[in-house]
Amino acid sequence: MDGTFNENDISRIVEADRAHVWHHLSQHKPYETTDPRIIVEGKGMRVWDQKGKEHLDAVSGGVWTVNVGYGRESIANAVRDQLVKLNYFAGSAGSIPGAMFSEMLIDKMPGMSRVYYCNSGSEANEKGFKMVRQIAVKRFGGKKHKILFRDRDYHGTTITCLSATGQDERAAQYGPFTPGFVRVPHCLEYRSFEQDGAPIEGYGVWAANQIEKVILEEGPETVGGLCLEPVTAGGGVITPPDGYWERIREICDQYDILLHIDEVVCGVGRTGTWFGYQHYGIKPDMVTMAKGVASGYAAIACLVTTEAVFDMFKDDATDPMNYFRDISTFGGCTAGPAAAIENMNIIEREGLLQNTLDMGAYMTDRLLELKDKFSVIGDVRSKGLFLGAELVTDRATKEPVTEKLVQSVVGDCMQQGVIIGATNRSLPGKNNTLCFSPALIAKKDDINQIIDAVDGALGRVFA
Ligand SMILES: Cc1ncc(COP(=O)(O)O)c(C=O)c1O
Repeated sequence: MDGTFNENDISRIVEADRAHVWHHLSQHKPYETTDPRIIVEGKGMRVWDQKGKEHLDAVSGGVWTVNVGYGRESIANAVRDQLVKLNYFAGSAGSIPGAMFSEMLIDKMPGMSRVYYCNSGSEANEKGFKMVRQIAVKRFGGKKHKILFRDRDYHGTTITCLSATGQDERAAQYGPFTPGFVRVPHCLEYRSFEQDGAPIEGYGVWAANQIEKVILEEGPETVGGLCLEPVTAGGGVITPPDGYWERIREICDQYDILLHIDEVVCGVGRTGTWFGYQHYGIKPDMVTMAKGVASGYAAIACLVTTEAVFDMFKDDATDPMNYFRDISTFGGCTAGPAAAIENMNIIEREGLLQNTLDMGAYMTDRLLELKDKFSVIGDVRSKGLFLGAELVTDRATKEPVTEKLVQSVVGDCMQQGVIIGATNRSLPGKNNTLCFSPALIAKKDDINQIIDAVDGALGRVFA
């Protein structure tokens, strides 16, 4: 830390925060007796809090965002230069960084064609839902308006995104919800024994076929979209089983359903490819992305579509309603694409996709070593630097450990100066997965430090 803040400044900041800031996802009662945590500075994979304590951040800003690490002056400079030239104009006009980033992005997404800018993952997903609804009106007399979402997935915080969440604790107390969203079963093979009829062999195709079953029950003529995370994030780092995605694409083609892939977490490098879906060789119709697009250096989210989806909105120019009548005020901020361009340049310049694959494989091996050591680890799942370890009281019954114990592991690591994550208040009785998403710049030493912290924490909490 460079010592910019002195003790007095910091206590004033802590008091201002305690008095006025409503923290996200936080119960505030404890702050009456303990200080809220203020993160003051970051460099590389490390952040410092108000007490000057150093932490290794194994979750990229808490919520898998700061993919290229903290303190990137080249991004700050790109944003600054852009802001003094032109900070903003509404997205009904174009901008230089917006045009340039769209070209770079589409180059990484063969088969995709159009980029719609907005500023959060939730908002991008809402745009996708609106497109499905408008296409239903334009082409199917409003009938094909239903949108399928999957058990354990999350697509955002608005009421409609919560209408599309398979995480009941996230949605609890916020209803009534938007109609027309239908849940399909999850594809977590480790918990397939909880699903009636799940086979031992060929689980992936079976799990995809469960979606077809829902489509047939609802009536294919009523279903317009299917929204899925490529690898489920906050629902437990669920890597899809073999054959799953290929079958999903077939089903969408068969029933004329738009496949909307939510890459808000996986997008732009997290899994070692530019996008998570690219591991599975499938072609989406719509892709949403946010967190890693500019690594949190500026707010930016994108909804990317094929030209075929785009074309559906420009077929009759004489009809005044015949275009996507949507706006995102801050989707016109130029800082977002300016930061995103440099973020992507960094990933290419520094070979971070390959590093993500290499370090992801290394960290997976290290977690598997911990699994050999601690029977409480029931399952290790990973794709690139996106990893989870599911904790169970008994490997035979796979009974989840309590959320409280999982949080004790997280708290113990924090004490040791390592910030890890866990599924939290998402799935009733199943918030039992430790989550790791270190920046794509992680080295073996960083990973060893994370593993050592988890090793110590598991030893203490489950002594
Ligand atoms: C898969 C997924 N989609 C969407 C969102 C919502 O993004 P935002 O918080 O930027 O609205 C999140 C946030 O965690 C997410 O994990």
